[in-house]
Amino acid sequence: MTSPHIDILPDKPALVQRALELTVEQIQAAIAEQGRCTLALAGGSTPEPLYAALAEQDLPWDKLFIFWGDERYVPVDHPDSNAGMAKRALLDKVPIPVEQIIVAPTGGGDLQVDAEAYERSIRAAFGDYEGFPQFDLILLGMGDDGHTASLFPHTEALQVCDRLIAVGNKDGQPRLTFTVPLINQAKRVIFLVAGANKQTALAQVFAAEADPNQYPSRYIRAAEIWWLLDAEAGKQLSD
Ligand code: 6PG
Repeated sequence: MTSPHIDILPDKPALVQRALELTVEQIQAAIAEQGRCTLALAGGSTPEPLYAALAEQDLPWDKLFIFWGDERYVPVDHPDSNAGMAKRALLDKVPIPVEQIIVAPTGGGDLQVDAEAYERSIRAAFGDYEGFPQFDLILLGMGDDGHTASLFPHTEALQVCDRLIAVGNKDGQPRLTFTVPLINQAKRVIFLVAGANKQTALAQVFAAEADPNQYPSRYIRAAEIWWLLDAEAGKQLSD
């Protein structure tokens, strides 16, 4: 694993532009190398302008396979749905074959059953592989508590190392999430982190010593990680 790249951009539009460059670069490289790109989207609010900008790009959309690194356990038409946000910002605007958009199932009423179903659909999309499937690119956000995906502090999902998908929990709100080993298998991970409220958690994520169970983003150790921060979020790192 190489040391993480840390880019502190002047503001959120600059962060989104840099994220767009790195995302398009990885999509094009993956398609050139293997004829397709497997991309896992982040949830939350930060990535929405990136998805809108991506929708304006001229890409071989039929070569993209889309997944979500985590999902709130709500229907796609619920305002909190990560899939709903990505559909509005990107997926309803570009011609990705619907069978290549692998939405986390959240309608069955049984979290474990839906987690296992999502895992099966990911395995099916990757075909034969050893260990954990390797995503070409995983986009992630980070909460002001240092969580990423739906890997929240001191939750059971942090310890799940033998599956692709775990059941997450945010203060009792159920989630489905990629596990740490699945994220760490990715060729490239890009974190998008903006806002002064992320400063303290970021300082702990990059501290020499801190408990990853308290700051779960510390568990992310993929081969290539880009931390794209705006100046507000990165203030304690740049001082
Ligand atoms: C989610 C996300 C979560 C998010 C962070 C940051 O489902 O909420 O996957 O990990 O990326 O909480 O969210 P913001 O981008 O809204 O700050």
